[in-house]
Amino acid sequence: MKKTVCFILLTFTLLNAKEFNTPMKTYMEGLSTEAKAANPSFSGFDAKRGETLFVSKHTGKKGGEMSCTTCHSTNLKNGGQNVNTNKPITALAPSVNPTRLTDVAEVEKWLRRNFNDVFAREGVALEKGDVLTYIINQ
Ligand code: HEC
Repeated sequence: MKKTVCFILLTFTLLNAKEFNTPMKTYMEGLSTEAKAANPSFSGFDAKRGETLFVSKHTGKKGGEMSCTTCHSTNLKNGGQNVNTNKPITALAPSVNPTRLTDVAEVEKWLRRNFNDVFAREGVALEKGDVLTYIINQ
């Protein structure tokens, strides 16, 4: 029974991971190794935790209340707006915007900036992995 559950979970994880291209998979594996090093009981990234992180409010680097949704909106299939520059942002959801989460350098750059915008610090591996797992499934 336990084995069946493990198998289903593994299949599910692999099906989810299939959405990432090869360089992004390698990036996610690196985050996974880091998360495991930080916490030996780490057992995989979680889209639900990523969603919670995405909508949670924090004091951003400019001192105001911010969340990822401040610029990206709550429905990732819709576009958003950069509140710093007022420029429109196209949808983050890969289902409507297939170029999303395909370029590791781009993803790393924006996660570094955006975590700073919202949390006034960089994200840790667990947070980045969870939030990317959430976004890839949108
Ligand atoms: C101050 C506005 C702002 C906030 C807040 C913000 N972002 Fe962004 N984000 C942007 C902009 C601008 C871009 C780059 C423009 C684009 O890709 O359309 C971007 C791009 C990204 C990308 C790159 C996607 C890709 O592959 O093209 C990811 C991932 C991302 N943001 C995640 C997040 C997460 C997670 C948070 C919360 C921690 C967040 N963002 C908060 C403005 C913001």
